[in-house]
Amino acid sequence: MERFIVFISLVALIGWISLGQAQGADKAFQEGKKLFENTCADCHRLNGQGLPAKFPALDKNPFVIGDPNQVIDTVLNGRKGKLG
Ligand code: HEC
Repeated sequence: MERFIVFISLVALIGWISLGQAQGADKAFQEGKKLFENTCADCHRLNGQGLPAKFPALDKNPFVIGDPNQVIDTVLNGRKGKLG
């Protein structure tokens, strides 16, 4: 269940970052946007651009728009080793 909620939130988050505007968006989109603003934007910034050399941009990030299972696993469990 937790993975499903994270997955739905990430789908909404990616949609929000890609599309920019929240107008006319559905409930999951709004929930993902709120979750991102409250939980992620301090580091990755509201526009998803991050801060160079500190927090990676999520906007147009190939990892983020790639396999959703890897993204969910990273958010839930983190990663070890040299990261992108
Ligand atoms: C306290 C600051 C902070 C917060 C809050 C934060 N992150 Fe991150 N995030 C980072 C840093 C730093 C990295 C890069 C780690 C590295 O490469 O060593 C990262 C990496 C990532 C990556 C991997 C990017 C890549 O290219 O490998 C994803 C995806 C991600 N964050 C998503 C999120 C999401 C979604 C949230 C909110 C639920 C979030 N982060 C909240 C600091 C943060």
